[in-house]
Amino acid sequence: MIPAAPVITVDGPSGAGKGTVSRLLAEALDWRFLDSGALYRLVALAARKRALAMDDEAGVIEIAGNLDVRFETVPGVETVRVWLGDEEVSHAIRTESCADDASRIAAIAGVRRRLLARQRAFRGPPGLVADGRDMGTVVFPDAAIKFFLTATPKERAQRRYKQLKEKGIDVNLRNLLEEIARRDQRDQAREVAPLRPAEDALVVDTTGQPVAAVLQCVVETIRVRGLWVG
Ligand code: DC
Repeated sequence: MIPAAPVITVDGPSGAGKGTVSRLLAEALDWRFLDSGALYRLVALAARKRALAMDDEAGVIEIAGNLDVRFETVPGVETVRVWLGDEEVSHAIRTESCADDASRIAAIAGVRRRLLARQRAFRGPPGLVADGRDMGTVVFPDAAIKFFLTATPKERAQRRYKQLKEKGIDVNLRNLLEEIARRDQRDQAREVAPLRPAEDALVVDTTGQPVAAVLQCVVETIRVRGLWVG
């Protein structure tokens, strides 16, 4: 039997630096990359486009099961281009309102079930870096290495503020801090696949650490575990 391709999971709350670190890590290893949050955001966006309420469970579950999406990785570019049907939605899925909708529909068990196989399908040689909330606990429990990135709520809000401003999205820092706290609470308190570190995860506090330092720490761990072949 061919052994399954190795997976490195990077979980944590929003603004902990997961997105940037896991994307750069996938690029450095030349592995595949899964931005699982984008899938939840896409379901939420597709639901909005059909004027569905986020608590219309049957409608949202149906959307999650028939999502027509495409991810396009552009070498050297940090963000992944995302398509919903024929429409590029790379920017539309990054707004705070879409993140809020995503956090709501992510609490629906049927939505998570529908997205499970789609997420697992990203696994393939030479390996996969998977970014999310439940990558190490539910989607890839057999991952070779599991990271859980955290940072103080204040720092995470400041990072999100900077990221959104750079993308030309207008936000207010205080509102952002409140929204992030609300989303964290919802993601941690939900019954299905709540946000929490896997028992065998390495928790990395990124507060006050630049991306390069976090990446170096992650890379060192991977080297020590013998997964780095570069
Ligand atoms: O990582 P992100 O900010 O793009 O995720 C948006 C929302 O999607 C987040 O609030 C919770 C949900 N999510 C999830 O429940 N499970 C994942 N694996 C990824 C994201």
